[in-house]
Amino acid sequence: MTTKTAAITAVGGYVPEHVLTNADLEQMVDTSDEWITTRTGIKERRILKPTSLGTSFMAIAAAREIVQKKNIDPTTIDLVIVSTATPDMPVSSTASFVATEIGATNAFGYDIQGACSGFLYGMSAAAAHISSGRYQKVLLIGADTMSSIIDYTDRSTCVIFGDGAGAVLFEPNDEGLGLQDEVLRVDGKGREFLKIEAGGSMLPASSETIDARKHFLHQEGRPVFKFAVSNMAAAINQVLDQNNLTKDDIDYVVAHQANKRILDAIAKNLDLSYEQMLVNIERYGNTTAATLPLLLWDYESKLKKNQKLLFTAFGGGFTWGATYLTWAYNT
Ligand code: UT7
Repeated sequence: MTTKTAAITAVGGYVPEHVLTNADLEQMVDTSDEWITTRTGIKERRILKPTSLGTSFMAIAAAREIVQKKNIDPTTIDLVIVSTATPDMPVSSTASFVATEIGATNAFGYDIQGACSGFLYGMSAAAAHISSGRYQKVLLIGADTMSSIIDYTDRSTCVIFGDGAGAVLFEPNDEGLGLQDEVLRVDGKGREFLKIEAGGSMLPASSETIDARKHFLHQEGRPVFKFAVSNMAAAINQVLDQNNLTKDDIDYVVAHQANKRILDAIAKNLDLSYEQMLVNIERYGNTTAATLPLLLWDYESKLKKNQKLLFTAFGGGFTWGATYLTWAYNT
């Protein structure tokens, strides 16, 4: 059995129709378009309505786009992975439901909870499953309904996050294209800075946890910002070194969209040009596990076969990393 690389061969996406603008947020909390724009780069985000549609609603839409575009028989899909911090339910997995709804009746599936690095971790898993030689078609979806865990009275988080889903298909590649290398990390000490305190085994839901608003996402922005910049830059440098690449060899950096200032700091730190950074944060905000595939969805027509892409992300946990992938097709 020859080991094959695992390449992305199709991209799909879905964002809800409802747009929440900075002007809307000015009516909800003590904030301003000027503060949000200059501190984050975000102008608007999409919100799933009603929230009860669940993350699977967006994940299914993104997956169906791939099935239709590629004219795939869904029964040939081997595996469905959903990276999400906002699954439909704590048990069972969102991936199970998505697989069944798209007709992937021969697939297995599971969720990955890697917060904002969930899609990066999912790429690693998807590629490993393909390279094992055992599976031919792995659907990886990054999807999050952040509006379901955001406190819309907390101005420090509600202006940042949005809802969306992006999907990619991984298949074996005979030309050596696809995922080449990665540096993936966690640091559990980081959970103090970015967490939902209640609803898990340590603090199950109760009327007290609800009254204390402990089911909402809490973030200490400043330390997270600092760790995000330094750890993503270090991971990128390590993956470049491991592959004897310099930043000039890279066509595009596909970086987690958490804050435009973080993207600017990474670009400055690594001396990258503006053209190398893919950016869409102004339209969607931070969609957690969906930011990386939504970048691919928006920029797919620009990407050319053999181009070198560097993915990077940082999120709750902490989780972070960088992945080097060569693009496998022209649109
Ligand atoms: O995706 C997962 C990983 N997450 C990240 O990477 C996020 C990293 N952190 C950030 O992006 C930024 O820290 C934030 C955007 C969250 C916050 O920006 P900041 O520049 O770090 O602001 P800050 O938290 O230091 O707050 C500065 C000031 C404070 O006022 P005082 O104490 O200086 O009077 C805040 O109360 O800005 C105030 N502030 C706001 N003002 C208007 C915080 N949020 C808002 C707001 N509108 N929405």
